[in-house]
Amino acid sequence: MAVIALKCPSVQVAVVDIAQKRIEAWNSDKLPIYEPGLDDVVKQCRGKNLFFSTEVEKHVAEADIVFVSVNTPTKTTGLGAGKAADLTYWESAARMIADVSKSSKIVVEKSTVPVKTAEAIEKILTHNSKGIKFQILSNPEFLAEGTAIQDLFNPDRVLIGGRETPEGQDASKH
Ligand SMILES: NC(=O)c1ccc[n+]([C@@H]2O[C@H](COP(=O)([O-])OP(=O)(O)OC[C@H]3O[C@@H](n4cnc5c(N)ncnc54)[C@H](O)[C@@H]3O)[C@@H](O)[C@H]2O)c1
Repeated sequence: MAVIALKCPSVQVAVVDIAQKRIEAWNSDKLPIYEPGLDDVVKQCRGKNLFFSTEVEKHVAEADIVFVSVNTPTKTTGLGAGKAADLTYWESAARMIADVSKSSKIVVEKSTVPVKTAEAIEKILTHNSKGIKFQILSNPEFLAEGTAIQDLFNPDRVLIGGRETPEGQDASKH
């Protein structure tokens, strides 16, 4: 998100987390993760068009695009224990997005989730949505630790696509 903020100065980027300590660290001089080049990027954008906040619902309500990268730990009990991803956090994030949204949004799934999760999430969002339109995109993360910033500056490919055209038609039928 920091690189998006740097490269798209006209876009406001709000990074939100319910964990107050993490957000405090992102707003401090000592960022909670080390990645070469990240400090510089954050320092250039923070307070301008990159903000770190615990006001999750407020920023989700205001956003046009929501990237979701909540934790998806491996299930420890029940069906798929030891193998399958636990989608509890994702599901509760999807319910919250549906609850607080007053305008249509693109929701981008960035967490590591099983194939077809987008369809399940779409159901949660559209069943709770009071007529608001959500388009769900899948954007799994393939960044390599140590070169993440460089790789984002020089991507060897960019894939963009969704199910619908800007006019709202189903692109898979055209
Ligand atoms: N770390 C990586 O390099 C990496 C790479 C590729 C994919 N992923 C995937 O990205 C996802 C996140 O990874 P991570 O390492 O950042 O996990 P993490 O556990 O460090 O961070 C997840 C954060 O989500 C927050 N959160 C949970 N529910 C929330 C909600 N409803 N609203 C706001 N915040 C909420 C938590 O407080 C936590 O800080 C996982 O699915 C992971 O598999 C991670």
